[in-house]
Amino acid sequence: MIEIAIDGTAASGKGTLARKLAEKYGYAHLDTGLLYRKVAYEIMIQNKNTIKNINYESCKIARNLNFLDFKSENLRSEEVSNLASIIATNNKLREIMDFKQKQFVENNKKKFGGCILDGRDIGTKILPNADFKFFINASIEIRAKRRLLEKNITFLHENDEKCMLQSLINDMNDRDRLDRTRLDSPLVPAKGAYIIDTSKINANELLEKVSKIIERT
Ligand code: C5P
Repeated sequence: MIEIAIDGTAASGKGTLARKLAEKYGYAHLDTGLLYRKVAYEIMIQNKNTIKNINYESCKIARNLNFLDFKSENLRSEEVSNLASIIATNNKLREIMDFKQKQFVENNKKKFGGCILDGRDIGTKILPNADFKFFINASIEIRAKRRLLEKNITFLHENDEKCMLQSLINDMNDRDRLDRTRLDSPLVPAKGAYIIDTSKINANELLEKVSKIIERT
């Protein structure tokens, strides 16, 4: 049974890679960022300004989380993304998430012959003995452009586009900083991880590169 750990920065291509690999090899896949996003989203709809203790509340939400059942909400908004990185610095919340992610692997590994998890601490913390570890990154400008394209917005003025791109760059830089500098499970390449920069390659080229590594081993 194969375990594949994929970590990396936001919009680096790690999520698409994980999805495509899961399709190709028939393995189970968990996008672990969605767990943090779901908790952030639930906090937001409760109106986070009225919540006295966000850390306590986020743990309570996480304990009851059914993470196979959250497809309809808008979990990809910038507001949710930013709050997700903030709550992800709480080590108590991370303990609950760790347990749920490991449970997912235990429940699915045998059934599918393998599991692929993507996130920030998969190779370092959740699956330290994974058969394959990848760390995916790209320049901040490229990643922000990808996020902008995903939003599918038609702009009237070039300046609007520039403004939005700059705001995405600022948000992503802030989130990267939080993810990289937090005390518990910071975003760093795991020992033995293949480090891949996707600034100049597309999703299919990345899939090909990673598949070659997996298949030659
Ligand atoms: O991967 P995604 O951008 O959806 O993750 C949202 C946020 O959740 C990240 O910025 C990070 O702070 C947090 N996260 C994490 N550990 C993971 C997955 C996500 O801390 N394994």
